Amino acid sequence: MASMISRFLVIISYVLLRFLNDVHGGVTSNFIRSEFPSVDILLDNEVFAIPNGYNAPQQVHITQGDYDGKGVIIMWVTPVEPGSNQVRYGTSEKNYDFTAEGTVKNYTFYNYTSGYMHECLVNDLEYDTKYFYEIGEGDSARSFWFQTPPKIDPNASYKFGIIGDLGQTYNSLSTFEHYIESGAQTVLHVGDLSYADRYKYHDMGVRWDSYGRFVEKSAAYQPWLWTVGNHEIEYEPYMDEVVPFKQYLYRYSTPYAASGSTSPLWYAVRRASAHIIVLSSYSPYVKYTPQYKWLEAEFKKVDRKKTPWLIVIMHSPIYNSNNAHYMEGESMRVVFESWFVQYKVDVVFAGHVHAYERSYRISNIHYNVTGGAMYPVPDKSAPVYITVGDGGNQEGLASRFNYPQPNYSAFREASYGHSTLEIMNKTHALYHWNRNDDGKKVATDSFVLHNQYWNKSLRGRKLKKNYVHAVVPTLELNKV
Ligand SMILES: [Fe+2]
Repeated sequence: MASMISRFLVIISYVLLRFLNDVHGGVTSNFIRSEFPSVDILLDNEVFAIPNGYNAPQQVHITQGDYDGKGVIIMWVTPVEPGSNQVRYGTSEKNYDFTAEGTVKNYTFYNYTSGYMHECLVNDLEYDTKYFYEIGEGDSARSFWFQTPPKIDPNASYKFGIIGDLGQTYNSLSTFEHYIESGAQTVLHVGDLSYADRYKYHDMGVRWDSYGRFVEKSAAYQPWLWTVGNHEIEYEPYMDEVVPFKQYLYRYSTPYAASGSTSPLWYAVRRASAHIIVLSSYSPYVKYTPQYKWLEAEFKKVDRKKTPWLIVIMHSPIYNSNNAHYMEGESMRVVFESWFVQYKVDVVFAGHVHAYERSYRISNIHYNVTGGAMYPVPDKSAPVYITVGDGGNQEGLASRFNYPQPNYSAFREASYGHSTLEIMNKTHALYHWNRNDDGKKVATDSFVLHNQYWNKSLRGRKLKKNYVHAVVPTLELNKV
């Protein structure tokens, strides 16, 4: 009799805990996206149009050129001959008071020979100012503009867009056009740019070129901060091309030296009220490696009184409950997560998984391989982890999530989209994930992000209310 009562109580407990779990756990969206074909847009499409004029500059793109936002690196390609390396620029249209000289280089990749890759740093600019610039020669010259960010200030407002795994399909185009409509001022690209490595031989270079023309409509006018993904590695022994990141590095420069980095693959910048740390998931990062030592030093340089918002971007997510790439980020979690908690990173953006997912504030820093603690737990000092690998490349969606949804996962959905993070002041930022919804822009997941340094008391209350219940039932269940 006693054992029957005991079994009955266990069953009742299980049912109650499952109920609690359902109530307080995360959400797996039931939105089913009707599939567009995930194929690359044909090369003769107008989105890849080659600009008119002999040797006209193409694939124009800019990125931040210094640590604090007073510099811009301008890059472009001339297809026939090197031509001019000069950038003419000024604060009024068609009236360029200044010039800067850049450099040019090209490369071969198996039987592909690149155009001439130009790079020019324009430095010592005024903050919060619109600059017009012109590149190219004679009738083939082309002009663009960009807006410098406000000076480093804790209350500076600024709107970032987050795009991952973009590629060059019709889904990519939908994401890209929605991003442009968002009015964001700078892109944080979390890696996997062109997907040119899905091709072979000569076409790999050709698809890097088409991607460069594809994103020019935005990337020539506002900085894109790039992160490397696995599709940038291009380790191709069958073509005798074995230098990792070769094509990417010729085409996409970063201001790495300004943050004391010794590699373009990891670096940091400060922009308005944000300190942005860019990591490489595919470079060594364990203890004693250059990336590890650099990050250790960079975190010590963060001053939340000047830049309250601490953002980390990487390619492979640390928390991911999708079947695709499950636990690929675990090794980086083991090495870096304790710093993310120690330095109270606000948010970590990643890509790689072709779906959307957002976590609660949790950490697994007490994990111990010899026993004891082994679960992510609510942690008020931990970042929110967001996976935005849903740009729309030719590999399609990662539509199989693991079940049950782990308690650390707040919201997940397998469809295409992009995110925006609109910093309002030193305490609040508005976050949106915008599902493409077959060509329409739909804001699907939104919340107010409270700053980890300036909004401690409010954040603590929210954590207690929303998150503690979300994890406790699972821990109890495992004891049962
Ligand atoms: Fe990836």
